[in-house]
Formats: sequence, C-alpha cells, structure tokens
Amino acid sequence: AIKTDVERVGSVKQQLSRLAKVSLQALFPDEIEPLIAVCQAKFGDYQCNNAMGLWSQLKGKTTEFKNPNSIGQAISKNLPQSEIIESTSVAGPGFVNINLSNKWIAKNIHNMLVNGIEQWAPVLSVTRAVVDFSSPNIAKEMHVGHLRSTIIGDTLARMLEFSNVEVLRRNHVGDWGTQFGMLIEYLFDQFPNWEEAGDQAIGDLQAFYKASKKKFDDDSAFRTRAQQAVVKLQGGEDRYRHAWQNICEISRKEFDLVYSRLQVQLEEKGESFYNPYIPRALEEFRKQGLIKESEGAQVVEVEGYGIPLIVIKRDGGYNYASTDLAALWYRLNEEKAQWIIYVTDVGQQQHFDMFFTAARLVGWLPDPSKNTYPKASHVGFGLVLGQDGKRFRTRSSEVVRLVELLDEAKQRCKAELIKRLEDNGKIVDWTDDQLESTAEAIGYGAVKYADLKNNRLTNYTFSFDQMLNDKGNTAVYLLYAHARICSIIKKSGKDVEELKKLGTIVLEHPDERALGLHLIQFAEVVEEACSNLLPNVLCEYLYKLSEMFTGFYTSCQVIGSPEEASRLLLCEATAVVMRKCFHLLGITPVYRI
Ligand code: ARG
Repeated sequence: AIKTDVERVGSVKQQLSRLAKVSLQALFPDEIEPLIAVCQAKFGDYQCNNAMGLWSQLKGKTTEFKNPNSIGQAISKNLPQSEIIESTSVAGPGFVNINLSNKWIAKNIHNMLVNGIEQWAPVLSVTRAVVDFSSPNIAKEMHVGHLRSTIIGDTLARMLEFSNVEVLRRNHVGDWGTQFGMLIEYLFDQFPNWEEAGDQAIGDLQAFYKASKKKFDDDSAFRTRAQQAVVKLQGGEDRYRHAWQNICEISRKEFDLVYSRLQVQLEEKGESFYNPYIPRALEEFRKQGLIKESEGAQVVEVEGYGIPLIVIKRDGGYNYASTDLAALWYRLNEEKAQWIIYVTDVGQQQHFDMFFTAARLVGWLPDPSKNTYPKASHVGFGLVLGQDGKRFRTRSSEVVRLVELLDEAKQRCKAELIKRLEDNGKIVDWTDDQLESTAEAIGYGAVKYADLKNNRLTNYTFSFDQMLNDKGNTAVYLLYAHARICSIIKKSGKDVEELKKLGTIVLEHPDERALGLHLIQFAEVVEEACSNLLPNVLCEYLYKLSEMFTGFYTSCQVIGSPEEASRLLLCEATAVVMRKCFHLLGITPVYRI
C-alpha cells in the first residue's frame, strides 16, 4: 500500500544503513557506523564495506571469525528481513553486495509520483543554516565573482531548503567603511541639492565612485574632509547618515535588477548591521587574553599563517575581520544557526580560515575534526575567464555589466528559438510573451548551469557559444530533453493522474531498471551535494538522468506498447525529477519547444 503521510525515510543509502546497523549491532558490542556505498562494479547495486576495517581491529582477538570474508558473511546473514533487498552476495575480502528488489524500486517511484517529490527529500542532521552569499559592495561594481556567488549560494540554499533545513539567506553587503566618507563629501560638493534631486543626482554610481576617488587622491583638503565625514557618519550624525542611506539605496536598486532577473531571494544584512556588535564580540577575546598589540594594531594570534588576524586597525577602526567575527557571533547566538556557509571566491580563503581559527580559539566553534555543530564552512570558487584566458570582461567596458550579460544570453536564445520554430513550422503557435519567457528560462538557465556544472574550485571560461549549445552537457540540452519527455506524455493522449491511480510500474527491461535505480538515488545525490557543498554533483546526476532516459527510450517502445502505462509513469517520474533538479539549480523548466 502507498503511504500517504510524509514519512521521512531518507535516501536509499540511509535506509540501507539502518538495516546494516541492525546487523552490526547483533554481531558486535560497540556501536559501528555502517559503510554503505553505491556498487561500482556489476556485482550489486550497493555494498556494505565494514568487514575489512572490522577485521583489522579483530585480527588475533577473535575465534569467531577467521577472515574478513567470514565477517562479511555474518553481516549479510544478520541483515533484517526487508522488502528493499532482493539478494546479497559476499565478495572476496568481505564486501557485502546488495541487490535491490525491482518491486521495491518500482513501488518507491510510484509512491513519489503519488505523494510528491518531497518523499525524496534527504534527511540532514542540521535544522538551521545561514548561507552568506552574493554580498557585493555598495558603490563598487557587482562583478562576475558576485554573480558566481549569487548562483552558487542560491543553489546551496535551495538544496538545503528542500532538505527541510531552515535557511537564512544573507546578503553581507559591503556598506560600511572608510570609502563612505569620500562618497558623502563628494555628494555634498557636487550636488548641494541632492536631497530634492534624489537618485537622479548621482546617476551612475560607479562613475560617481571613480570621480570621488580621484578627488580624494588629488585634493588633500578634500581628503581631510572625507576622513572627518567618516567619523561623523559613524557617530550617527543625521545629514551623514541620510546621505549614506541614499547612496546605499541606489546600489541596492541596481543589485535588485540582477536578483529579480535571476529570481534569487536574499535578505540584506550588511556590514553596518553588525557594527554595533563588534565591541562585545571582541570583548570575549579580550577577557580570554586573546587580543594582543602588534605594530599599533590589535590582533588575534592564529598559528600557521605567518601573520596575525588584525581586528582593530592602527587608526582605531574596525575592519573586515572584526565585522565577520561580530557577524559570526550574531549568527550563532542571536540567530541560533548551526551551520554557517560563506560563498566567495577562493581568493578569500585565508581570511575565512584565519577568522574561523580565531573563533575556535575563543570557543565559539568546536574543533572541526569532532564533526559536530556549530560548523562554519567557506565555499570557495574559481575565476570566470574570457575566451582569451584572462579575467572575464566585456568588449564595451572594463567591467562586465551583469544585467547586460543576462540580456545578451536571453536575446541569443530568443533568436535561436525563433529560427528553430520557423524551421519546424511551429512558430504560429507561439505568442511573443511565450517566446520571451521561454528565451528567458533557457538563457538565464544556461548562464547558471555553465557556472554550476564544474567543480566550483576550477576556473571556467565564459562562452555564450558553449553554454547555449543544444548538444552536450548544457542547460539548453537538458531543458529540451525535459520538454521532449513532456511531449511524449502528451502525445500518448493518456491522463497521467489516472495512470498514477490505476497503473503500476514494472521494471523488466535492463534499461528500465537502470533508469529506475537512478531515479531513486535522487535523495542521496542531493544529500551529498549538501554535505560537501558541491552543486556540480547534482548537475552530473541530472545529465546522467537524461542520458539514461535516452537509453531507455531508445530500447523500450513507450506509446502503443503493452507496457505503455508503466512506461508512461517512468517518463513522468523522470520529468518530475528533472524539474526538481532544475528547481534546485534555480532554472525554470520549459515544457515545449
Ligand atoms: N563584500 C565581500 C566582497 O565583495 C564579500 C563578503 C562575503 N561575506 C562575508 N561574511 N565576508 O568581496
């Protein structure tokens, strides 16, 4: 019978681990963590790998077992009865190969179709997490690095949210610091009536930043005023605070253009937010004697970097590190987050390593080898390169305007889509709105997928031609593959909802079974992508899913075959899982092409 309540059983791996645990408990007095892995060879679907390790502990101390193989045999024999397992076998040094039951795989898929993909949400041990991502700096450009952070961070947040983790999506914008003195003073100079003119006064904020920087460098009287302005701003003087807010607001509007195009949700808590918490955070270090004086600055000594972590600058001001310490304090104590994840380029790795070490010294974070919460993780990523192998820039300007980049992806997709539809004579069925939204889904999806599909630490080359190719591992290919599955189902003329109620899934053909097995592994893939903070793991799964579907569709006739009902359900399950992958990657699915 199909369960209708959402019972959180976890991934196949987790379910097998529970069975193996029962077996291990029956055999050994100590608690042993089951080691379950996907079987790489053809001996089974999964394997339990505990025997070898146990043998090396028991050798010479046991008469019960004579070799690792006999431990494997015992583990296998003591596995509790379960509908999950069809058969087991024990290979050489004690690997227990597990074959899943076809019936159970089929039932599991059917259950997902009836009760929703949430059935396949992984069960994680964390309940609340902060994902600190995007985080551009006010008045400076939001560059491709911030785009990567936005895309990767959003995906991580989505995967954790799907796994029932409460995620605090934080935009740690750089909205505090000495550059504001210069910006505000320049605003007062150039636009005495800025308050009436509003946003119009400043116009292009980046040009404004450049001009004020030039004046700051060239004009010493201005420099002095700018420095005094910082003090006035930080002291809370009205006119200065107001000007600061105005400048932040202009930046925010620009950032929001990118976020709304990408459909990314973020809550801004910028550096300024944590400023009032810095003294008390540093006080905890001081009380434990962890703050020292070094060349006029106040520092925390962290071993292994050759330099200390500066927390108060020589001029008495706070910095990036002291702000991050206060933010960490806040996230742990006020927001009660268990896992705090920071998404920035790898260039900032040392900063994060150093302040994590400092947080361990003061006792906020446990030793990472203990593998307990709370936990802080830096998710680093590589550079985006242009075709010339250098840091990516657009032709027109020295910086890449992100909005223009996204627009170009969409325009190219629209042109391609129109051409395709004209060629197959379907263009008459499409309104311009439909063309627009489809081009948007494909174009933005392509930019995101190109970013996510590689291991995040590697640099990647930005190429419209590559990412918009409809063959190979691209979003375009995958979105089309999904649309094709939808059209197979449509063409059959069958009502999927009816099929779900009446039909059963049968996995007879090897390609049907292979597809079925891959489908039910969805939960453990998301689980792995979350635990290791690697979105590319999900991309690989998705690409393989579409390949396996092609394999199935090539060898198994769907429409008009005796197995039609079952096979249509497999098509539907594939489409549902693909859509969930798209959703987790922040990509909008396309239903027809
Ligand atoms: N604003 C920084 C930058 O543009 C990124 C901030 C990342 N988050 C953090 N908590 N340090 O490089």
